[in-house]
Order: sequence, then structure tokens, then C-alpha cells
Amino acid sequence: MTQMLSLSDGRQIPQLGFGLWQVPASSTAETTATALRLGYRLVDGAAIYGNEEGQGEGIRRSGLPREDIFVTTKVWNSDQGFDKALRAAESSLKRLRLTHVDLLLVHWPCPSKDLYLETWRALIRLKEDGKALSIGVSNFQEPHLERIIGETGVTPVLNQVEINPRLQQSALRAFHARHGIVTQSWTPLGQGLSFDAAPVQAAARRTGRTPAQVVLRWHIQIGASVIPRSTREAGLLENLALFDFSLTEGEMAAIASLDTGERCGPDPARFEMS
Ligand SMILES: NC(=O)c1ccc[n+]([C@@H]2O[C@H](COP(=O)([O-])OP(=O)(O)OC[C@H]3O[C@@H](n4cnc5c(N)ncnc54)[C@H](OP(=O)(O)O)[C@@H]3O)[C@@H](O)[C@H]2O)c1
Repeated sequence: MTQMLSLSDGRQIPQLGFGLWQVPASSTAETTATALRLGYRLVDGAAIYGNEEGQGEGIRRSGLPREDIFVTTKVWNSDQGFDKALRAAESSLKRLRLTHVDLLLVHWPCPSKDLYLETWRALIRLKEDGKALSIGVSNFQEPHLERIIGETGVTPVLNQVEINPRLQQSALRAFHARHGIVTQSWTPLGQGLSFDAAPVQAAARRTGRTPAQVVLRWHIQIGASVIPRSTREAGLLENLALFDFSLTEGEMAAIASLDTGERCGPDPARFEMS
């Protein structure tokens, strides 16, 4: 149903998944089970989303073999530091009721805390212990990536960052490509702010797809992994139907021109919320 991307540690990740941010804890199990039954195989969660119990329950409810599902969670900012991150990951596994996750991420670098290097060392330990099959980061910028790679010699397999047609992060993506890091796009629909843009509308008309599908297909064609969220079954289905059409080079170039550098979310260089 979905294409796979290769990770630098030899494993693979589905290019398309679904995200659980702001999905109510009370309905997360149902949303997760539904998405998995519809064909998704990657579920993106985080300790801070407050719904890891539902994420794990939905995985069990789907009836799919555990090894067919790629499970991500993240270590929150207030759990940064070596020992705290180890404990936080154990707590996530308890809430998920899983023995391991497929991917564990450091959620934000929080540069002024200056703990992301120690946190990264904890993730290296968790991978050695089999608690996380792959390890990566989120919202890291080039200096943060250079530091953890330089200090530990271990390159994150993936960096999950905000990307949408208005915030294309070309320089960071080029850095990722040079280091074999998979780019994963969060808030990929960019709050719908590019849905009315002429290049998106034109591609939607030509392909007979919705603006959301055009934008998500753009993520696929720039080579990113993408994790849209929808709590509606129709939305989940719409966002899954990305592999039976493609955008032309001209359409990709026209969408590339929409880059304004404006963020929907916070600036990782300053975001410290704990
Ligand atoms: N690492 C980080 O710091 C970070 C930050 C933010 C997000 N994330 C991850 O990325 C995931 C996705 O980001 P996101 O949840 O912020 O935003 P998103 O997936 O870009 O957009 C979700 C919003 O778009 C709507 N939507 C979904 N499909 C649609 C469609 N086909 N047409 C029109 N509207 C549609 C949803 O409403 P309905 O539910 O009504 O469909 C929801 O309001 C998160 O769930 C989370 O897992 C990570």
C-alpha cells in the first residue's frame, strides 16, 4: 500500500504514516485501529501527546502482527538528560505496553537546556538495549545535528521537522541527504494555507485530486516521509491515496515557488516548553 524508505541503520520505514498529536486520549485507540485497518503501517506518537496508552491499544485492536507496524514515540523536553531520558523511554513502553518501539526521537533540541547531547547518548543506549530499533531526532537544526554526530559518531536515522509548501527547509533537507538522514514532515498540510495557491489548485484540477492530496504527494516526491493526521475515516482514506498519481516536474517546480519560510509551529532554536 505504501512505499518504504531505507534508514541508514539498515532498517526501513513506511514513507507514509499517520500522526496522533491532538487526537483525544479517549478516541486514540479507535483512530489508531481504524487507520491501521485502512492500510497505514506507521503510527507517530509522543509522550507529550498524552495518548500512548491508546496508541498501544489501537495497535493490539487492529489485529495486525506487531512486526508489521512501525511505531514511533518521542522523549519530551522535560525528560532530557541521560538518566531521565532512559526512564522516560521505559515509561513510554509501559504506557504503550510494548517491548520496544521502532523509532525513538528526541522531540526538540531545546538548545538553552544544553541537554540534547546527553539525551542522544541515552537513545544510543536504548538502541543497544533493544528498546528502540532505530533512533532519531525531531526539530534539530544543522548545528544540533553536527554536534551529536561529531560527539558520538552516531547519526540519527531520521529528523522529523515542520515542512509544508510554505516552509520547504531546502538547506536542512540537503544536509540530511549528505548525511543519509531521512526527512520526515510534520504538520505536512501546513494548516491548509497553501490549498488555495494557484500551483496546488492547478495540480488538483489536472489530477482530479484534492489540494490536501496534492500537498501530501509533493512531500512524497521530495522524498520525505510524511505523517498527516485525521480523526475522520474519510480524511484518513483521502490521505492514504497518494501512490496512484504523480505530479509533473513542472507542478513540483511551481509548488517549490510557494516557499516563504513561514512556520506554523515554533522556532526550534528558541522553543523550550517543558
Ligand atoms: N515533532 C513535532 O514537533 C511535531 C509537531 C507537530 C506535529 N507532529 C506530528 O505530525 C503529525 C501531523 O501534523 P499535524 O497533526 O499538526 O497536522 P496535519 O496532519 O498537517 O493536519 C491535521 C489537520 O488537517 C486536517 N486534515 C487532515 N486531512 C485532511 C484532508 N485530507 N483535507 C482537509 N483537511 C485535512 C485535520 O482535520 P480532521 O481531523 O478533521 O481531518 C487536522 O485539523 C502530528 O499528528 C504529529 O504526529 C510532530
